[in-house]
Order: sequence, then structure tokens, then C-alpha cells
Amino acid sequence: MPLDLTPKILDQLLDSLVENGWFEWPNAITDELSQSLLTEVEKYDLEGELQRAGIGRGKTRQIHQGVRQDSIYWLNGKSSAQQTYLKQMAEMQYQLNYALFLGLLEYESHFALYRAGGFYKKHRDSFRGNANRVVTTVLYLNPNWQNDWGGELVIYNEESTKKLAIITPEMGKLVVFMSEQIPHEVLPTKHPRVSVTGWFRCNASIAGNIDPAL
Ligand code: OGA
Ligand code: MN
Repeated sequence: MPLDLTPKILDQLLDSLVENGWFEWPNAITDELSQSLLTEVEKYDLEGELQRAGIGRGKTRQIHQGVRQDSIYWLNGKSSAQQTYLKQMAEMQYQLNYALFLGLLEYESHFALYRAGGFYKKHRDSFRGNANRVVTTVLYLNPNWQNDWGGELVIYNEESTKKLAIITPEMGKLVVFMSEQIPHEVLPTKHPRVSVTGWFRCNASIAGNIDPAL
């Protein structure tokens, strides 16, 4: 099940990333794969395998409920759904490197569950002094999302003065944006909201850990 990166969509993705810093791609991932990923994260939730997400990395990592209220599970490539998804992201990585010379070396990603009331205040995805996350992806896994449930992703301009887009977290939609450039937030959700958030990085490290000093 390859990623449906037709020349037309690829052009739109590249143009939009370069010109605007972000791209919204509805139905990027098939319902079948999205559903398998959703079933997997629901299982982890029932088994108590999700962990509270924190802010920052390594020693500076702290749980900060006023900023971020989601529970996560790092992808480890152990299920066939994950493998298919990771292959598709590898294809995207290749295309981004080929066209934009981004030097992306690896992809790290986690499932995220926002329970009712969950949110993530405005932030950028690359950490101060450790700006190795270059491109962010968010895949949404919410069938039949209703417009009055909240939980939208709000994208801001680089100066953080203007809202550029308010994006509903619909099943199979993939949002791609430049990690350092684009401030964004998740509005409070009234309904459980599931996604896979990932980052293409320009150096290698183990998910969730600071890069080892060279
Ligand atoms: C994040 C994030 C956005 C979303 O996990 O860093 O900003 O829409 N997620 O889930
Ligand atoms: Mn983010």
C-alpha cells in the first residue's frame, strides 16, 4: 500500500511547504490503514500502555499539564500497520530530500490520544538549542469527526501573529509543516482525539532522548 504521492500532489506538497511552511492533505492514508492504526492505539489505551506526554527532552523533560494534555505511545515498527505507515513516511522523506535537499535522516513518531478536555497550547516542535526536528507530520485517526467537537489544529504564521488555518482532525488526513517555523496549537477537544505525530530529523537519536554528545 504505497503512499499516493502522485506528481500533482507531490507538487502541491512541495510548493506549499516552500511557500507557506505547511500543507493539509485530506485522505492521504487509506481508511483501512488508518483503522488498523486506530485499533492498535485503542488496544494500548485499554492495556494502560499509553504514557503522559511531557515537554522538552532528556533532563529538561517535564510533565506540564497546563501546556499539553495528551497520552502517547512511541511507534516501534512492531505491527504490520506501523510498518506500512513507516514505509510511507520513508517515501515522503525520500521525496522531500530529493526535491528540497533537507538532509532528513530519520523519522520518529508517536501515537497521541487527547481525551475529552485535552489540548496542546501554542508551541513550535523544535526544541531550543536542539533544533533537529525539521518537518512535522500529523496523521489523524478519527472517523466521523463532528465539527462541534473542537480539537482543531490551528496553524499560525511564522511571527505567530495570525491564524493561517484551522484544521479538523479527520480520519486519514495528513498535515505536514516545517517544525521550527510554524507555531501551532490543538484546541480543547470535546471527544477523544487520536493521531500519529511524527518528525523527520536531520540527525539520529533514540526516540524521546537527547542526542548523545559527540
Ligand atoms: C504535537 C502537535 C498536533 C495535533 O504533538 O506536537 O502539535 O494536531 N500535535 O495533534
Ligand atoms: Mn506540535
